[in-house]
Amino acid sequence: MKKSWDGRFKKTLDPFIEEFSSSIDIDVRLAEYDLQGSIAHIKMLGKVNVISKNDTKKILHGLEEILQEISKRELKYTSTDEDIHMAIERRLVEKIGKIGNKLHTARSRNDQIALDERLYLRDEISEVSELIKGFQKTIINIAQKNIDVVIPGLTHMQHAQPVLFSHYLMAYFNMLDRDKDRLKDCFKRVNIMPLGAGAIAGTSFQIDREYAAKLLGFPAVTENSIDTVSDRDFILEFVSWSSILMMHLSRLSEDIVIYSSEEFGYIELDDSVCTGSSMMPQKKNPDVAELIRGKSARVYGSLMTLFTLMKALPLSYNRDMQEDKPALFDAVETVKMCLKAGAKLLSNIKLNKNRLKNILDKDFSCATEIADYLVRQGMAFRDAHKLVGRIVRYCIDNKKYLRDLTYSEFKSFSSLFSNDIVDFTSPRSSIKSKSSPGGTCLKNVKAQIEKAKSLLK
Ligand code: ARG
Repeated sequence: MKKSWDGRFKKTLDPFIEEFSSSIDIDVRLAEYDLQGSIAHIKMLGKVNVISKNDTKKILHGLEEILQEISKRELKYTSTDEDIHMAIERRLVEKIGKIGNKLHTARSRNDQIALDERLYLRDEISEVSELIKGFQKTIINIAQKNIDVVIPGLTHMQHAQPVLFSHYLMAYFNMLDRDKDRLKDCFKRVNIMPLGAGAIAGTSFQIDREYAAKLLGFPAVTENSIDTVSDRDFILEFVSWSSILMMHLSRLSEDIVIYSSEEFGYIELDDSVCTGSSMMPQKKNPDVAELIRGKSARVYGSLMTLFTLMKALPLSYNRDMQEDKPALFDAVETVKMCLKAGAKLLSNIKLNKNRLKNILDKDFSCATEIADYLVRQGMAFRDAHKLVGRIVRYCIDNKKYLRDLTYSEFKSFSSLFSNDIVDFTSPRSSIKSKSSPGGTCLKNVKAQIEKAKSLLK
């Protein structure tokens, strides 16, 4: 097959090497963006009279027809199309003849691919951002539905202090909100127009990069042609961003796996998001949560691929960079699927209120309340901590919990206790007392939710 670059070659490309170096199967994903880029490029070349008005019109017409073919999935790719850029150019020449060969004036595939990737990522970032908002709405819904359900808050996976489930869930709202913020920042660096850098040095034609940028909706153009064709930071940034997001989703998934286990039983998952076992009839598995947790590994893998790909590349463009696409596309698709699946999983979650009550009745998570009580009566916190530690020890030895203790039992440990101490041994009173900013009392959580809602508007 004849190549666009074969002028200086005596031999044709080995067929296996042709297959080896082709990326059409992967970068076909960029077809519409490649056309958008070409359309802007040819309009710009026409405007600055590098291409005549007549030729511009013919090329534009051809490109617009190819865009139709692509959206109807009618464009056929051949195994000899090296990449999406060559495939579209080949088709253009098939359609409008030799004039099509003028399209690539003042352009290289090196700046072209950078453009395609930026256009693609811009769209995907907007979509991902909407999916995060949807996820956040689900969090708010579930938090509101279960606004005053108390769960044992865990540190070191041990009962620490009672917290509201709604407060726990809103922690994830905050994590996602930071993700959204970081994504916005990442978008700024994606949203810069690379076209006009050419292969490395720019071009000798008097092009109008700002005009092309305007046509494509970019607020700025890149500064340095060498950096432009060798930069994949914007992709690394997005996939780094994705890795942090996946870490958050994976932690939520892990909580869900644990909380829905028989041993914990805090929550129950909806049948519609669980699967059974092919062997054990009793099983109901939290697959969605497990898969999200598992898929985080894929995204981290893509991040490592990209770092390894770029770390020792000499400036400027190197063909190695073609390998960035599988990693980028996979990260984008994985993130989108996990956001959708995670929101579905969460939206049908049920809390086992009786079980939670029973669990909280049989733990020591109000011990800090007793220590704080003593502090209010004038004892130093360290001393109070030690004393309550002895009370807990006493309970364990006597098979009791704090709420089983009578006023006189408390009194035997310290004269600072009055008979109101028994009111401090319930999870509800513990929750109520946590009114410090950001704490778990009902009033705070309601305010958090209201603020969250207004952030989503
Ligand atoms: N397909 C290549 C990529 O994805 C772009 C083409 C650049 N090829 C070249 N020989 N300069 O990075």
